[in-house]
Amino acid sequence: MFYSAIRKVFFQFDAETIHELTIKSLKSTGSSVLNNFYKQTVANKPVSVMGIDFPNPVGLAAGLDKNGECVDAFAAMGFGFVEVGTITPRPQPGNDKPRIFRLAEANAIINRMGFNNKGVDYLVSQVRAAKFNGVLGINIGKNKDTPEENAKDDYLHCMRKVYDYATYITVNISSPNTPGLRSLQYGDALNELLSALKAEQAVLAKQYNKYVPLAVKIAPDLTEEEVLSIAKCLIDNNIDGVIATNTTLSREGVEGLEYGEEQGGLSGAPVKEKSTTVIRILSKALDNKLPIIGVGGIASSEDANEKIAAGASLVQVYTGFIYQGPGLVKEIVNGLT
Ligand SMILES: Cc1cc2nc3c(=O)[nH]c(=O)nc-3n(C[C@H](O)[C@H](O)[C@H](O)COP(=O)(O)O)c2cc1C
Repeated sequence: MFYSAIRKVFFQFDAETIHELTIKSLKSTGSSVLNNFYKQTVANKPVSVMGIDFPNPVGLAAGLDKNGECVDAFAAMGFGFVEVGTITPRPQPGNDKPRIFRLAEANAIINRMGFNNKGVDYLVSQVRAAKFNGVLGINIGKNKDTPEENAKDDYLHCMRKVYDYATYITVNISSPNTPGLRSLQYGDALNELLSALKAEQAVLAKQYNKYVPLAVKIAPDLTEEEVLSIAKCLIDNNIDGVIATNTTLSREGVEGLEYGEEQGGLSGAPVKEKSTTVIRILSKALDNKLPIIGVGGIASSEDANEKIAAGASLVQVYTGFIYQGPGLVKEIVNGLT
């Protein structure tokens, strides 16, 4: 009720202006009594995945808190885990504005943010300052101006910087808004990247005397063959988890709508089935060798249960959360079967 009133006001304004305002206010209130405006108690539904204990299986997906400025606020909303990023080694402005569009009739968003972020050192300063001691995923990527052949170095750089502060690290190779990024999902490029990251994980595990799992985030726009080939590579490299999926390049479900032809990644209801299909294929191919985190179009407990039935052990929300607010977390957790 409360959020639907706020949403009416929010949706009068440009999406990114509201996003920035919200991040600022969540950052300044996250660990103060003012967090009572959005704080809620969510039922305990503990799960253990990737060797990590989660208080409940509902997480915040990457991209909302790119710089890790609001983890205390999101924790207060009852998320079982919070994933921050995507972060890159150096700060970068991202694409020209406008670059985020609401398609309310379709419960969807199109974005072409392009990894706008303040750089990994800033993110580390923010998560270090947070009071949060729950499950924190840190999602890493490459700078736009890093040549594809050097992409690995960007991931390694970020991994070393965040290792000591992350509960798990996500390797994002599936955003459609960084040219060439998605090509890291295929063949030798994927194998080389994952083997380098695994080798570095072993070094860092020794150095910090703790094992931080590595998850890989993939796109929904993959053929069955491509998903199977990724699954094999994840198993061969002993990767700890897979996040399915990122946004889609498809425009199915938004044809003819205002902003429906904007460039970028489409999220929300129109990506739901695509993401569930990828999870189903992955689940069969992985045969429980590594867990799946399901994300894409979750807007109710029914949607979350569908992802779990398809093979996900955890779920994440982004677009559904924008449309429904913190109440969605509670609704999903209560409705988990
Ligand atoms: C505005 C926006 C920005 C995003 N930024 C990122 C990002 O930086 N890194 C990432 O891995 N995913 C990013 N995502 C993708 C989401 O994490 C999620 O995978 C996708 O939107 C599907 O889930 P949803 O339908 O619940 O939104 C972004 C999504 C949106 C809408």
